[in-house]
Amino acid sequence: MENIHQASNIFRPDIFKGKVMVLTGGTSKMLYQTAYDFMRLGGSVALLSRRLKDLNIIADRLKAETGSLAKGYQIDLKKADDLAYSSLIDIILQDFKRIDILVNGAAGNFLAEAEKLSLNAFKTVIEIDTIGTFQMCKHVYSKWMKQNGGSIINISASLHHLGTIFNSHASAAKAAIDAITKTLALEWGPKGVRVNGVAPGFIEGTEGFDRLIDLDKMNKDKSKDNKDKVDSPSIDNFQKYIPLQRYGNKIDVASLVLFLSSDLARYVTGQTLLVDGGVLGILPNWLAVVPQFQKKWNPKF
Ligand code: COA
Repeated sequence: MENIHQASNIFRPDIFKGKVMVLTGGTSKMLYQTAYDFMRLGGSVALLSRRLKDLNIIADRLKAETGSLAKGYQIDLKKADDLAYSSLIDIILQDFKRIDILVNGAAGNFLAEAEKLSLNAFKTVIEIDTIGTFQMCKHVYSKWMKQNGGSIINISASLHHLGTIFNSHASAAKAAIDAITKTLALEWGPKGVRVNGVAPGFIEGTEGFDRLIDLDKMNKDKSKDNKDKVDSPSIDNFQKYIPLQRYGNKIDVASLVLFLSSDLARYVTGQTLLVDGGVLGILPNWLAVVPQFQKKWNPKF
């Protein structure tokens, strides 16, 4: 990894001193770097996820690596009601005394044909991604940012920009998140709250990257009828289609999140920025160029 380019090596070392970030999707491999850089730059992080045991391990590692404070909090965004969100934000405020930055990074996704997607499967992704994001924004705003200002960053995707095959659920969820980002930026701008989004492309070493190339996990068929099964595609050669000629990494995402978190972006709000090396212009429906996939999508060819 190109250490020299990490945000924590470029920004002034105390730029986030005394600041607090709340981050959902706290066990996400992609957002570990964001928490790490923020902490190395003086900030403290409250990490949220449904997996408390994993969160505690991650928080301990972050503390050891950065010398700053991190703490894990359990919440299942799929099940949480208003009271659960409200009490959790109260506890975080008791512990950390403030919330300057909210990063909504929790997400669920998998490849699935729309026709075979159960109601619960569709709802699950909407609940985690869209409702989880909205609820976090609402409660953090009303309990802290409305009086004190702040910066919210919603992690999105480019799936919905042109539509993405086998992703009706996540495309819908991310489109709604972008709409929430734009709307809250307008409503809350007068209170000093900026709301932006970050839309990653192919980011190596993340769960999304691994899952979305795995056609074996597609169409969990309750009847165990595997006649439609297709082999997993290889995306080894995709890098050549990316204008910047490489997959993204966690540092690329962290740098953009930290830029939007910082005062450098003080006049930026309501924007969702792609961090995808330009790939959307070349490979918007990347699955369609994978030969094994073509058999499934259009068996005539
Ligand atoms: N294809 C079709 N349906 C699927 C599926 C798949 N690959 N994976 C889950 N589902 C369905 C389940 O069958 C279930 O529907 P059902 O009750 O009708 O059977 C529904 O989605 C909920 O699944 P469940 O496993 O009970 O929920 P969960 O909350 O434990 O997990 C996810 C759902 C989406 C969160 C899970 O896939 C996950 O853990 N994802 C990891 C996070 C991730 O994807 N991160 C990267 C984001 S890009």
